[in-house]
Amino acid sequence: MALWGGRFTQAADQRFKHFNDSLRFDYRLAEQDIIGSVAWSKALVTVNVLTVEEQQHLEQALATLLNEVRENPMQILESDAEDIHSWVEGQLIEKVGALGKKLHTGRSRNDQVATDLKLWCKFQVSELITAVRSLQRALVETASQHQDVVMPGYTHLQRAQPITFAHWCLAYTEMLARDESRLEDALKRLDVSPLGCGALAGTAYPIDREQLAEWLGFASATRNSLDSVSDRDHALELMSHASISMMHLSRFAEDMIFFNSGEAGFIELSDKVTSGSSLMPQKKNPDALELIRGKCGRVQGALTGMMMTLKGIPLAYNKDMQEDKEGLFDALDTWLECLHMSCLVLEDIQLNTARCKEAAEQGYANSTELADYLVAKGVPFREAHHIVGEVVVAAIKQGVPLEQLSLEHFKQFSNAIEEDVYPLLSLQSCLDKRNAKGGVAREQVTYAIEQALARLA
Ligand code: ARG
Repeated sequence: MALWGGRFTQAADQRFKHFNDSLRFDYRLAEQDIIGSVAWSKALVTVNVLTVEEQQHLEQALATLLNEVRENPMQILESDAEDIHSWVEGQLIEKVGALGKKLHTGRSRNDQVATDLKLWCKFQVSELITAVRSLQRALVETASQHQDVVMPGYTHLQRAQPITFAHWCLAYTEMLARDESRLEDALKRLDVSPLGCGALAGTAYPIDREQLAEWLGFASATRNSLDSVSDRDHALELMSHASISMMHLSRFAEDMIFFNSGEAGFIELSDKVTSGSSLMPQKKNPDALELIRGKCGRVQGALTGMMMTLKGIPLAYNKDMQEDKEGLFDALDTWLECLHMSCLVLEDIQLNTARCKEAAEQGYANSTELADYLVAKGVPFREAHHIVGEVVVAAIKQGVPLEQLSLEHFKQFSNAIEEDVYPLLSLQSCLDKRNAKGGVAREQVTYAIEQALARLA
C-alpha cells in the first residue's frame, strides 16, 4: 500500500518504483521506526488525537511488531512497500485496522526518517566505541607482552632509530584513542531529536517536542524545523570519522604486512588470518590485512559521495537525501568489521625477536647517538652531524656497524671520541636515553601502558 495514492490516477511504472523504493536498504531502520512510532503515539495522546486506550492498543501492536522484526528482520524484504516507514505503518494497520491510520497525524516521513537515522547512528556509535576500545586493549596487551623486543623504527622506510615493538603498538593505541574521542564527540551532536518537525515547517499540533525527545532517549529537541529535516551532518560526520579511523587501520595493516614480509621477517601472521596461493604452494598471504587496507578506499569513497550528494540540495527535504543510507551503512559496517578483524590478526601474531633485533642493529640506527655524544663533548650539532655522516660512510665501506670501528679509526674523524663512546652505541642505551615523555625508554613505555590500561578499564 502506497502512502500517497489519492492524488494519482496512474500507477507508477515498475521501473520507477524499483528506482524510487528504499525498503531493500532502509529495512535496517525497522526497530528505530517502530520505537519512534511508539513515542509519536504517546505525543498524539497529549494533543487529543488518540485516547489513552487507543494509544495503548497501538503501542501493544507496535511491541509485537518489534519482536517479529527482531526475530526475523529479513521478512521485511518480502514486502513491496516503498520504504520502511510505509512498511511499519502498513503492518500496524494490518494488526489493528483503521486505528493504525491515525498514527501518521501531524508527522511526516521527513522528520520520521531523520529521527530513525539518528537513533540508528546513536546505536552504531556505541557499538563502534566498544570495538575501538577492544582494539586498543588488544594493542596495549600486545605492547605489555613485548616491551623488550627491539626493532628498527623507520622514516622513509629506512631504518632510522631503534624502537620497541611495544612502542609501535602504543602509537596505534593513540590513534584509536583519538578515533574513540571523535565518536564521543559526534554523540553530542547526534543527541538532538528532529521528531515533531513535520515535513519542513514544524508540526501543526501543539506537541511538547522536548518531552518527545526525552521519551526517545535524546538529550533535547532540535531548534529549527527546516534544518532538522534536511540535516545529514551526522551521517557525514560519522563517515568522516570512519574514514580517518580506516586510514589508521590501513597504516596499521601496511606496517604489519611489511613486518610479515620475507624481507623484514619481524612477525609471522597466524594461519587463521592468512590464505594460500592457488599456484605457489609456499605462499601464505596476509589477506586479512590487505583487505583492511583495501577497504579504507570504499569508506573514503562513501564520505566523498555523500558530500557531493548533499552539496547542491536546496532546503528542505529532497529525495536526494535517500542516498544517505547505503553509503553510511556500508561505511560503518566496514569500519566495525575491520576493527574486529584487526583484533583477530593481532591475537595470534608471532614475533621473531632475534630478527627484529638484528635489523635494529643494522642500518646505522645508532648514528644519532654518536652525534649526541659529540655534542656532549662540545662539538656543535651541525658539525657533529657532518662528522658522523663521514664515519657512517667509512663503516659502510668496511662492512661493519659503528660500534665495531676501532677507537683509532674513530679518531681519524674526531679527536673528541674516546673509549666511553662504545657503551652509548648499544641498542639498549639508544632506548634508555629517550626517557622524556612519550619516548621509547622502558620507563615511559611502562607508564604509557599503565595509563592506557586505566583508561580502557
Ligand atoms: N525513503 C525516504 C528517505 O529515505 C523517506 C522520506 C520520504 N519523504 C518524502 N517526502 N518522500 O529519504
